[in-house]
Amino acid sequence: MSNEIIEKFQKAELLLNNNAFSEIKGNNDYDYLINELIEYIEENENDQYIVTTQTIRNYQDNERQRIHEEIKENPKTREIRANQETPYEIVMDISNKSYTDGDINDLNKYFNDRYTKLKKIIQENPEFKKITDLKNTKANIENLTSIGIVNSINNTKNGHRIIEIEDPTGTGTVLVLKDLEDLYESSMTLVKDEVIGVSGSSNGTLIRADDIVHPGIQRRIVDKKMDFSIVFISDVHIGSKMFDEKAFNRFIKWINGNYGDEKQQDLANDVKYLVIGGDLVDGIGVYPNQEKELKIKDIYEQYEEAARLLGDVTDIPIILSPGNHDATRLAEPQPAITEKYAKDLCNQKNIEMVSNPSIVNLDNIKVQVYHGRSFDDIVMAMNGYTHADTDKIMKLLLEKRHLAPIYGERTPLASEFEDYMVIEDIPDILHTGHVHINSHTKYKGVHMINSGTFQKQTEFQKIYNIVPTCGQIPVITHGALQILDFNE
Ligand SMILES: [Fe+2]
Repeated sequence: MSNEIIEKFQKAELLLNNNAFSEIKGNNDYDYLINELIEYIEENENDQYIVTTQTIRNYQDNERQRIHEEIKENPKTREIRANQETPYEIVMDISNKSYTDGDINDLNKYFNDRYTKLKKIIQENPEFKKITDLKNTKANIENLTSIGIVNSINNTKNGHRIIEIEDPTGTGTVLVLKDLEDLYESSMTLVKDEVIGVSGSSNGTLIRADDIVHPGIQRRIVDKKMDFSIVFISDVHIGSKMFDEKAFNRFIKWINGNYGDEKQQDLANDVKYLVIGGDLVDGIGVYPNQEKELKIKDIYEQYEEAARLLGDVTDIPIILSPGNHDATRLAEPQPAITEKYAKDLCNQKNIEMVSNPSIVNLDNIKVQVYHGRSFDDIVMAMNGYTHADTDKIMKLLLEKRHLAPIYGERTPLASEFEDYMVIEDIPDILHTGHVHINSHTKYKGVHMINSGTFQKQTEFQKIYNIVPTCGQIPVITHGALQILDFNE
């Protein structure tokens, strides 16, 4: 490889100094870089015969300027955007609501809040209006209904299922007989720490379940009117060697009305909002040996680069929520990324930094943004689920009315006084990311979107045969979904 690099430059009558050589060798697309660099020198610095790192910097600046000229907003798009209203409201943001100091009493308050909120939702079902406190279920009771948090789920030797539940008064042991096939089947999707309603009968020791209900959501019959488009992206991973900058630039070029066929340009002109669902940058120290896979090794520089790349999108609001790679508290709910790390982004007028999760109302379309860290826990807990099953996972979370029901596993949850991960209001759109594989389904009238990634397959993903959907971006336009592909 070393000789090959030197020979290529020699053929162009150029010499490489040591630092420039190391930098080119370290580039994972060095063939492309060499050709581009030689072309740049011939056109712009033809009196040079030694290539230094400064030559590379000059080439990069020149390239950035060229791309900027290419992707900056189309005049037609600018005019449309200058004449349109883009009202929005942040309905839920926890950034300034974090009070906990990790006390055990906080944990009790947290679970009490989770229980109270979800109990209220379950009690919208008339059958659960009147419930028996779990402390009073240790008697013979024919028809009872109770509501509790799932403490544990186990199988008996005979293949039945035992679920321990708890409410503020005590605990109850729920038996699901394997002969009740439908109930048994649906109990397979139960997870620890979710809140459920149980109806059945008690023999003083066990509650034999006839039915188990989730808080659930009502099916929506009529869609909300929507006469514009919203674009959803996540997991851009700026700073990673595998960040697909070319695809991302094509995306920005499109959103600014300069890329694609006439239909795609019309769609761009219809876009009123861009939502980013976390992992804008790759971060540092997120997993062992990450630095080997980083092109930009400094977190501040990663956000500077992000600001440069997003800086050409100026006339539509950008809603920016963090993920587990971003520079904010790792425990969920995650406060918004602040000026401390991302000064330029925070100063960009059309960028609205929000927490993860958060709810935004975009011209009357309610969007729940959640990065999706809890998907890791759901995949671990649920038999037969993989990270590609985000449609199934999002459906479960909507039924459980909780974004991260399992406590104390991979998803670090901050035990706030209030459980902000409860889905109190049903959104029109649930936007998630994290798994790098996009998906879209409509469930009971709610668009459930996972917005994929702009990061090409990493070494880790290769080992596990995970194929990311890089550069394939979901757009909700006038109530329907379209996927745009920015790969060439
Ligand atoms: Fe990610």
